[in-house]
Parts: sequence; C-alpha cells; structure tokens
Amino acid sequence: MDNAILVVDDEAGIRQSLKGILEDEGFEVETVASGEECVKLVSSRCYGCVLLDVWLPGMDGIEVLERIKEVCPETSVVMISGHATIETAVKATKMGALDFIEKPLQLEKTVQTVKLALTQHGLAVENRKSLLEIIGESAPMRALRQQIAIAAPTQGRVLIYGESGTGKELVANALHRQSQRAKNNFVAMNCSAVPEDLIESELFGHVKGAFTGASSPKQGKFELAHQGTLFLDEVGDMSPKMQAKVLRVLEEQKFEPVGSSTAISVDVRIISATNKRLAEEMERGNFRADLFYRLNVIPFQIPPLREHLEDVPLLVEHFNRVFAARNNKPVKEFTVDAIELMQNYDWPGNVRELRNLVERIVIMVPKVKITANDLPIRRSEKPASSYDFSSYKEASEAYEREFLCRKLAEWQWNISRTAEAIGIDRSHLYRRMKALGIPRNGQP
Ligand SMILES: Nc1ncnc2c1ncn2[C@@H]1O[C@H](COP(=O)(O)OP(=O)(O)OP(=O)(O)O)[C@@H](O)[C@H]1O
Ligand SMILES: [Mg+2]
Repeated sequence: MDNAILVVDDEAGIRQSLKGILEDEGFEVETVASGEECVKLVSSRCYGCVLLDVWLPGMDGIEVLERIKEVCPETSVVMISGHATIETAVKATKMGALDFIEKPLQLEKTVQTVKLALTQHGLAVENRKSLLEIIGESAPMRALRQQIAIAAPTQGRVLIYGESGTGKELVANALHRQSQRAKNNFVAMNCSAVPEDLIESELFGHVKGAFTGASSPKQGKFELAHQGTLFLDEVGDMSPKMQAKVLRVLEEQKFEPVGSSTAISVDVRIISATNKRLAEEMERGNFRADLFYRLNVIPFQIPPLREHLEDVPLLVEHFNRVFAARNNKPVKEFTVDAIELMQNYDWPGNVRELRNLVERIVIMVPKVKITANDLPIRRSEKPASSYDFSSYKEASEAYEREFLCRKLAEWQWNISRTAEAIGIDRSHLYRRMKALGIPRNGQP
C-alpha cells in the first residue's frame, strides 16, 4: 500500500498550499501542473490519493481520472473543482471519483477529506489482496500453486487453459506478483473486446492527432506493461489482424505508436489465457501456428470446480468473510446440509459462480443461519446420456434443465441477459424455468 499523495493543478498557488498543509500532516506529496504529467507518473507508481483539478489545460480532469482508474483502480481520486457542473460531478462519480473539494479550498476540510480518501484506499487494497488469494487445499490446487511458484520467477510465457470462472486471471496475477516484475504494472487486455480499428492504438498507443478523436496522446498496453506483465485474456478470440500485430512485437520487442515513426522498445512478459482448445483452433486455421508456439511455452491447466469439490467449504468460508467485511454485514453460518448440497452441485460457472452466490447471500439474506433450503441450486444429476428415460419428454426436459441452469449460472442468474444470450424472450425463459422447477435468482 502506498500513502503518497499527488496534487494535479495548473495553479501554482494551489499546488504549493496543498503540498504545504499535507506535508505538515506528515504525508509524502508530489505535485504536477498538467494531466499529461499526472498520467505519466501514475503509470510508473500507484498513489494512495490523487487530488485532481477538473479544469486543466490540455487533457482535462475527467480524462485523467479515466486513465488513473485504468492503471490503479484502488487509488482514491478527489476532484478539485472551481465551478464544476452537476453533469461533471455525476460523470466523475460514476467513473470512480471518491469526493469533491471546492475552490477556494478550506484547509481543514481538505485534510479531513484526504485522510478519508487514504483510509478508503487502504480498504480497497486489502480487499483486492484477499480476493487475489488462491484458495484450496485439494491436490489439483496444491499442484497449481506449486507450478506457479516454479514458473513465476522466470521469463517463460505461460498460456493458461481453463473453463470460464476457474481462476485464469487470478493465476496470471499470482504469476506476476511472485515474479521480479511485481513492483511494475500488471496490465490486462481482453482480446475479444477490442474493435478492429482500435487494435493498434490499444496495443501500441497513439500520438496526439494520429486520427480523428485522438485529441491527446495515449500509451498502449505494451508500453503500460513495460518491465511488468501483459495479460492477454481470451487469446483464442484474437482477430487475424491482432494476431499479426502481437506476433510482430513478440519477435521484435519494439513497435511504433500510431502516428509516430519512432520505435519504442519494451520489456514485457506475456501471460495469456483462453477457454478454447487453441491447438484445435490452430488446426482449423483460426489461430496462427507461429503465434501459438510463442505463447504456449509453459501451458497451465486449471481444473473446473466440479473436479475439486473438496475445496468448496474453504471457498465458501473465504468469500463469506471477504464479502461480509466489504459490505459491513455479519458473517453467515452455513449449515452442514448447505455445505453438503454445495459439494454435490456441479458448478457450471465454476468458482465465479460460487463466489457470486456467497456474495449475494451475504448481502441479500437477512438471517445468519443459511441452510440448504436457502440455496438456489440443486444437487447435480448424472449427465442425461446415462439416464434411463422412459419418454422423449423426460429426456428433453432433463437436457433443457441442464442447459438453462448452465446458461443462467454463466449470466449470474440474470434472466434478461441469459434470455438475450440464448436467443429467446425473457418471458419465455421465465415460463420454462417455472415449468422445469428451476429456482429464481437468490430467492429459493
Ligand atoms: N482458487 C480460487 N480461490 C479464490 N478465488 C478464486 C479461485 N478461483 C477463482 N477465484 C475467483 O473466481 C472469480 C473468477 O476468476 P477469474 O476471473 O480468474 O476466472 P477466469 O478463469 O478468468 O474466467 P473467464 O474465463 O470467465 O474470464 C474471481 O473473482 C476469482 O478471484
Ligand atoms: Mg478471465
């Protein structure tokens, strides 16, 4: 955790007075006069609190806020506003600004706000840390931790396989934190979500004016991850264009930002993840072989939760404590039959599904004792194929139930989103759930 404070304001008087009073309180304070300088500093170090002027020449406060939240989501940002409009305030709050202080600054109030902001930062860091722990004492989880310990301190590129929600990002993060790159950035990039025409700008950044809309320069993911780790998520979904661009940087270790002719050299460790069978995608011609072999130096396989159900009690206990603390709620008591039911469920959404279930219970269920009846899950049944169904109706309903439960779990039991994803009406999905006896979201 870092308790340093960064003041960003173009008025020298404000910078000086804030630095003065905050240093008197014993804080480490740095000051800069522009958004551009701020962005540069936060990409090399995470501050506990940034005091950020809304109106800045060049890159404005809102844009700077967005960049800070991108690289250091736990940094508390307090906006300094001379005459901020309601819209700006709403926008800033939505983007994660913690508070506002008005000019002219009231020193007493400012110090108080900063202290609260640093406390908030501490809590956010603690919370993130506990959510970064890899829980589980089963043989596959122990083996996984051991593999991480061996691979982490090397430069080896790791390719992580696993179903959705098994903890691929968590493992990527652990590899980073246990490496010598730990004090530099861990930058995650979801390869399936980048629009085709922004690929280069996302990866390599751009200079001001490189294209319409490029009103200020932007660092790409490779540059942000310099001396750190770049996590390429969903690599199996990279478009051919992106595959070609990434391959080139891996070969040359350098690139040019869009609109610039000066190459930037970077030292980045790549960790990638996918839930697709990449070797098959390669055979089908969807994934370049040269890129595959570059990424797949050390393959990791994370087992689905149904293959280490003995970890369920520990996981439940862990999330129970974390979410009770985070939401200021009492820790729940899960009865033996509740735990037993959870150990006999097949968790199609894996640890994420279990985490969401516990979080929902901690927040939504008022009583402390949680029994099997309070859980919106049912004992897993044998796969439909091994059933001896007496009628077509029975067989197709069993399949439909299994399919819908899996899809609902994938969408955190949100009926509208699930219906959209599988291409039916919300009301139709709701009727089918009722007919098949599938309980609704968190309300058994
Ligand atoms: N062994 C574990 N111990 C504690 N938490 C875990 C474990 N495995 C997964 N989690 C938690 O489950 C959630 C899902 O994990 P993560 O995002 O890493 O999954 P993923 O494999 O990247 O999924 P997706 O393919 O859907 O992106 C996270 O909140 C993560 O912290
Ligand atoms: Mg993921």
